[in-house]
Amino acid sequence: MIVHDVAARVFVIGAGKAGRALAHAMRVGGVEVVGLHGRRPDHGITSGAWPATVALANAVLVTVRDAELDGVLRELRSAAALAKGTVVLHASGTAEPQALDELRTEGHPGGTFHPLLPLTDPTRATEQLRRAWIGIDGDAGARAASRELAAAIGARVLEIPVGAKASYHAAAVIASNFPVVLLALAARVLTHAGVDEEAARGALATLMTAAAENVSAVAPSAALTGPVARGDVETVRAHLAALSDAPAVLEIYRALSREAIPLAESGGANPLQLEQLRRALDER
Ligand SMILES: NC(=O)c1ccc[n+]([C@@H]2O[C@H](COP(=O)([O-])OP(=O)(O)OC[C@H]3O[C@@H](n4cnc5c(N)ncnc54)[C@H](OP(=O)(O)O)[C@@H]3O)[C@@H](O)[C@H]2O)c1
Repeated sequence: MIVHDVAARVFVIGAGKAGRALAHAMRVGGVEVVGLHGRRPDHGITSGAWPATVALANAVLVTVRDAELDGVLRELRSAAALAKGTVVLHASGTAEPQALDELRTEGHPGGTFHPLLPLTDPTRATEQLRRAWIGIDGDAGARAASRELAAAIGARVLEIPVGAKASYHAAAVIASNFPVVLLALAARVLTHAGVDEEAARGALATLMTAAAENVSAVAPSAALTGPVARGDVETVRAHLAALSDAPAVLEIYRALSREAIPLAESGGANPLQLEQLRRALDER
């Protein structure tokens, strides 16, 4: 890898959710993970002073939290623990650590290897990573290494446009965190209406998963269902009335319904009905 024709040997720093999941997926994908280094010793995890195996790696993947990233990269540099030319990658979707530039000046290609995936359980993540995308950036050497590691775990890569990391990560948060928030809100509405909490969450999560599956198969305008897609003004009015005692949810309902209108338009909904809908959403 990295220097082509040489097998990938990766040292992972940070044995948390991302580090454990990526180390497991890489091993399953045939990558030699020469070390997983954390802050506390555990089965298969080193801690304390850098072990000698770090010098065997041709790529180091740092998976500590953003606030700790610069410190770990500087430690790595000052300990002169890396072999010449070793690529240094980190898994943060937002950070652009200065210490990576310092490592670059010493001949270590550096960049981002950010899985667009909520990583929780390492075993489940291995399967999920096969369908996932990895956001990558950095110099040519780092991007080549990231592409190779992504291919080993079965993932595709998405090149993060230069200077747009915050927008990239905001989009990731909207797509992965907000559905969780929306589910919690929807469950609150349903339980408030008298449905058992577990049933509400189960039913709504199934609904949400199916909608996500649909929108991964076809464009949003074709995947959109419901009253806005049908131009059904009366139903939307009934929803606004039903949510009137939950002002925060009502505002979210209004805002997202407005965003649904152009999708419904592209999907072929009646423009006159959509105009009525727009007005109904603006009524106070
Ligand atoms: N989890 C996700 O879904 C996900 C997805 C994509 C990207 N990422 C990225 O991955 C990075 C880590 O996130 P995470 O969710 O895995 O966080 P996490 O579960 O808190 O894991 C971070 C780990 O790093 C360890 N650590 C901190 N300083 C260290 C040091 N000096 N040496 C060795 N280990 C050290 C922490 O140890 P302690 O437990 O002792 O503090 C912790 O185990 C972040 O940049 C995040 O943006 C996460």
